Amino acid sequence: MERMPLPQSLISAFLWPVRIDILTVLPELFSSWFGESILERAQSKGLVEIKVHDLRQWSPDKHRKVDDYPFGGGAGMVMQVEPIHRAIEQLRAERDYDEVIYLSPDGLLLDQPLANNLSTKGNLILLCGHYKGVDERVREHLITMEVSIGNYVLTGGELAAAVLCDAVVRLVPGVIGDETSALSDSFQDGLVAPPDYTRPADYQGWKVPDVLLSGHQANIDAWRHQQALERTRQRRPGMIEAGEEGEGG
Ligand code: ADE
Repeated sequence: MERMPLPQSLISAFLWPVRIDILTVLPELFSSWFGESILERAQSKGLVEIKVHDLRQWSPDKHRKVDDYPFGGGAGMVMQVEPIHRAIEQLRAERDYDEVIYLSPDGLLLDQPLANNLSTKGNLILLCGHYKGVDERVREHLITMEVSIGNYVLTGGELAAAVLCDAVVRLVPGVIGDETSALSDSFQDGLVAPPDYTRPADYQGWKVPDVLLSGHQANIDAWRHQQALERTRQRRPGMIEAGEEGEGG
């Protein structure tokens, strides 16, 4: 009898942690973010390993310089290929990586399906650009995927790398206490999330919808689905159209 293959996310969670290596010229930026919150707990539970590396340690320059003026002139500095190449080579000699991701405003837009996909991978390298960005040869020869967190330009890729880590790590099985909650997020089923309420049921006349207090689970589920559909139509109509196109083949 043929065996069903186990999903990569299960294998990663139970046999080895998801490993993310971040290459940056500003490693301090990550310490408070990764030292607190769910990302910290995920690491202390051994589900995820996030290592932040200072790219300057791979600089061949005695002043640990990692950037230079652009050939052909123009404003701003460009990150050099050599320190980045040396960093990636060293990491690759230690383990295999599924993707080497460059955070860039013109990369693939990060959305829930991309986060889901990345959460099923074992090891990732995230390269944060700075100044004008990286020497194009880095993109041509070393990078396997480019990711953007939106159509706007940040001063560097660090915030984008932190956003990507957060979106990916919370999907790793076991990271969020309530296993169902990551799956019921906005976007997971192609719809935004329905509204939530908590006590008190009546706050100065602002009332919680009766159906949520009814105890009738089928009605509650139907109401939530209806709300999610309605909100998606109002706020993200493109998601409904994309879903219909997908269904039609
Ligand atoms: N670096 C600068 N801007 C960025 C963006 N919008 N997404 C990812 N990386 C970036």
